Amino acid sequence: MRKITLFFAIVFCCSISAQVIHVKTNKNSLVYNVTKSKKVHQAHYGKRLNSTEGISNLKAIFNEAYPSFGNGRPNEVALLVKHDDGTLVTDLFYLSHDQNTKNGIQYTSIHLKDEKKNLFVDLHFKAYRKENVIEQWVSIINKESKAIELQNFASSAIGFKAREYYLLHFYGSWRKEMQMVEEKLTNGIKVIETKQGVRATEYENPSFMLSLNKPAQENSGEVIAGALAWSGNYKLTFQLDEVDRCQVTAGINPFASQYTLQPNQEFTTPRMIYTFSYEGKNQASINLHRWARKYNLRAGDEIRPIILNSWEGAYFDFDAKLLKGMMDGAAEMGVEYFILDDGWFGNKYPRNLANAGLGDWQVNKKKLPNGISDLIDHAEKKGLKFGIWVEPEMANPKSELAENQPDWIIQRKNNRKPMLQKNQLLLDLSNPKVQDFVYNVVSDILKENPRITYIKWDANRSIQNYGSTYLTSNNQSHLWIDYAKALEVVFAKLGKNHPKVIFQASASGGARVEYGILKNTHEFWTSDDTDPIERIFIQWGTNHIYPPIASAAHVTSSPNHQTGRATPLKFRFDVAMGGRLGVELSPTKLNSEELEYAKKAIQIYKDKRHIIQFGDLYRLLSPYDDDGYAAINYVTENKDEAILFVYCLEYSRRSERNVVKPQGIDPKASYLVEEINMDGKNKISAHKKVLSAEVLMNRGIDTDLRKPFTSVMIQLTKVK
Ligand code: GLA
Repeated sequence: MRKITLFFAIVFCCSISAQVIHVKTNKNSLVYNVTKSKKVHQAHYGKRLNSTEGISNLKAIFNEAYPSFGNGRPNEVALLVKHDDGTLVTDLFYLSHDQNTKNGIQYTSIHLKDEKKNLFVDLHFKAYRKENVIEQWVSIINKESKAIELQNFASSAIGFKAREYYLLHFYGSWRKEMQMVEEKLTNGIKVIETKQGVRATEYENPSFMLSLNKPAQENSGEVIAGALAWSGNYKLTFQLDEVDRCQVTAGINPFASQYTLQPNQEFTTPRMIYTFSYEGKNQASINLHRWARKYNLRAGDEIRPIILNSWEGAYFDFDAKLLKGMMDGAAEMGVEYFILDDGWFGNKYPRNLANAGLGDWQVNKKKLPNGISDLIDHAEKKGLKFGIWVEPEMANPKSELAENQPDWIIQRKNNRKPMLQKNQLLLDLSNPKVQDFVYNVVSDILKENPRITYIKWDANRSIQNYGSTYLTSNNQSHLWIDYAKALEVVFAKLGKNHPKVIFQASASGGARVEYGILKNTHEFWTSDDTDPIERIFIQWGTNHIYPPIASAAHVTSSPNHQTGRATPLKFRFDVAMGGRLGVELSPTKLNSEELEYAKKAIQIYKDKRHIIQFGDLYRLLSPYDDDGYAAINYVTENKDEAILFVYCLEYSRRSERNVVKPQGIDPKASYLVEEINMDGKNKISAHKKVLSAEVLMNRGIDTDLRKPFTSVMIQLTKVK
């Protein structure tokens, strides 16, 4: 029977002044006051208020819910518009608002209009009651007589009043993404941004944690976590003003992005996502993870398969025989998917290195004379599903695509020399023909090979050669935004038309780790660095904001290809099992002992992955604390099962430091403690013993880890 959702909806429609607009979740409140003069002020963002009585008598935290240029204070503006008569001033006033709640989500829209011009601005909020996450985005509607130019168009601007502010953010580079730094904000503006255009998260991530009054700890303190859902240029500013308020303004980076809006056209900003925790950083991460799995990750409630990716095991150097050998080994280990990475295409310009063939998506007849279906036949015979690598937004100059469609390439024009990155150029996704091409590259592969059910979508360069042959000379500054919007449309369409296919966002590793692309993908390739020590840090940072189920983590060979560091197979497995486990090596190169161990570990992951992929993640010992240890645990929603990983990163003689106190378990219960995934004798004295949750959480368990690159995986099972 059709559910009549209307019964569950409480609808308000208001247009009177001096009132309160309350955006709320179970634990968070974002409150706006509408003043008698019809301005909308931010009154509160933080802990849930059960009553807002009297709040409109207090001083506003910010005098504008969406600060525009030209109406007072010179703080960072969210909106700057050049109107039809060339004037730059916008002053927004309240028209009305509407709110309704459906299926645990409260929807709020506040409708604003400029005092003099026919410019309408709608502030939209989605408040996820149980997850304590609020999304905000904005629609700007031009009802003026002529075109207007948008110069700033943030997704949100939220203010805080505290004594001090500490900003944790994530920076890095290729093979070292999502490193963490926390700094005290001083007066002025701190900016986190990118101007890369494409694969935007390589050097900074559009996310943060902002602690109020003092640096929040994992389990105490007030902290706001935020993330922008946008695959293009972004800008997040943290302005500590002259009276020590902090305004966080977040959205598309307005840099060289003036956007012309024709009459009756509407511009919609990407979503800014917030959660507020007064129980420290870990709870903020849990809120985001739970919300993402339910609302912002493709099939976030489906178990992820274990894959073997061919890249580090074969690179470009393979033929069908070699790949089939890898499949045989993968199947023996218990892997579920075989993913054929780069190098399978191009004939006139075979893709045997990164310098040719990109863009020519025909199977290389020399390497694979019997085509892809021959490989899939073999995979299926072995009980494996099949996936493939593509990079459809790109072309090598040495490709038939670049030769035949020179206009499709993003270029600097006026015969300026193209700048190459990884020997490649970027296609102009603002052009609808290119959008169709990119869509069809993937869709045709999937239609021709319906047994392909996993796509690794790569993107290995940024824009740089700024210029479009498609956009008019007046609209060249639209390129950044039109590119990112088109990418979203292409991904959404592919997802809709190929509902059973798993999509991975890869971009030289973790350069597309953000909630915009994640809405249409199942996971991201967390980093091209697969060294387990490096990965402990990268996954630690990544999982502050993004859920472990989406963090692809692969066991590769030793010594590691990126760092040259040799580590035991168990350590590599224990680290990769902290995310979506995969394998990226040639199984034929493992000796029989390693193969046996890998088989066992993969089976353990299969049995326990529901805890890791769907459970809550608790951070116990930080690798940043310089103690030489890191530890995390995962707990199922019903608290019946938990998995604990402890890693030793460097030699330690301070044995008291390897005591670990799991968290999130049922404080009233007792748990059977078992070390699993062992590669020798067990390393915990509590092995196979029952301990109360109070003992576990307060006294902790001793782990006999002293040598670098040793680790334990421990299961806790609630004793009924
Ligand atoms: C990127 C990816 C790698 C691999 C290569 C192939 O660097 O991150 O995993 O697919 O491209 O060229």
